[in-house]
Amino acid sequence: MKNISIIGSGTMGNGIAHVFAQHGFAVTLVDIAQAQLDKALVTIAKNLDRQVAKAVITEEQKASTLSNISTTTDISAGVAGADLVGEAATENTELKLDIFRKMDAHAPEACILATNTSSISITKIAAATKRPGKVIGMHFMNPVPVMKLVEIINGYGTETGVTESIVELSRTLGKIPCVVNDYPGFVANRILMPMINEAICTLHEGVAGVEEIDTVMKLGMAHPMGPLQLADFIGLDVCLAILRVLQEGFGNPKYAPSPLLVNMVAAGKLGVKSGEGFYRYEAGSKEAKAVYFR
Ligand SMILES: NC(=O)c1ccc[n+]([C@@H]2O[C@H](COP(=O)([O-])OP(=O)(O)OC[C@H]3O[C@@H](n4cnc5c(N)ncnc54)[C@H](O)[C@@H]3O)[C@@H](O)[C@H]2O)c1
Repeated sequence: MKNISIIGSGTMGNGIAHVFAQHGFAVTLVDIAQAQLDKALVTIAKNLDRQVAKAVITEEQKASTLSNISTTTDISAGVAGADLVGEAATENTELKLDIFRKMDAHAPEACILATNTSSISITKIAAATKRPGKVIGMHFMNPVPVMKLVEIINGYGTETGVTESIVELSRTLGKIPCVVNDYPGFVANRILMPMINEAICTLHEGVAGVEEIDTVMKLGMAHPMGPLQLADFIGLDVCLAILRVLQEGFGNPKYAPSPLLVNMVAAGKLGVKSGEGFYRYEAGSKEAKAVYFR
């Protein structure tokens, strides 16, 4: 594989483009607006600067990484020469099905179509294409240049050879692949989201405060960040949406979201991105300033 197209240049898309370009692949980054693509290139350059400062890469490697990335707002042209398309657009089922129909129509026949979805069924996405065997989940973690794991998700009909190629490719990127099957939440979010939800229930029931809950999990379980702060990072709306997927997909009430989470999302308290969640954040900063929740 040489030519990689990435659809969506937001948080995950720019990180995925960064990592492929850093490892010598020719990357075409696609988004709906040029302004979004320009912003992504600025972010990638900033993150590369950080790697240079930490001596992870050299100035020359930074320059060659940037020169490996081109951008376009035309998805059909953007995927025309791709060996692999990685979709990292907004988490919305209808939007992704539409993007996959377009990718399927314009990408070469042998091209593998991967999605970075956190929760949408790979099998459902694959069924929107004429090549379900070549559709797979390639779920990177945030921040992509730093996090080692790639959760690889086999859809119902994903071909074995396709899985093997994506495993190999992930290793080429310096990542550690882990292959799982396509059931709601896959593995990462099926386990993470109930833990976050339980932390919110614990808070709601008055068992302990925000900092106490996060401290117990950080110091007691050696988690680098407590579950409430992590929820703020992920976005409380995203956590709620994934819990709904689990609840609906399994039909099991144990996945029902905490009413406190539902209320906070309704109130627009979404965590880092809105400046307030379980903690308070200053604009443009991910540093928790103080407990916000009362
Ligand atoms: N943020 C995370 O921590 C995280 C972690 C793992 C997986 N994911 C998944 O990765 C995907 C992307 O998430 P994100 O956080 O980067 O979202 P984001 O909102 O930061 O970026 C989404 C990008 O998709 C673009 N987009 C929307 N419609 C498009 C279209 N038709 N064609 C091309 N681009 C389009 C938007 O303009 C935006 O730039 C989602 O499926 C999400 O579930 C996110």
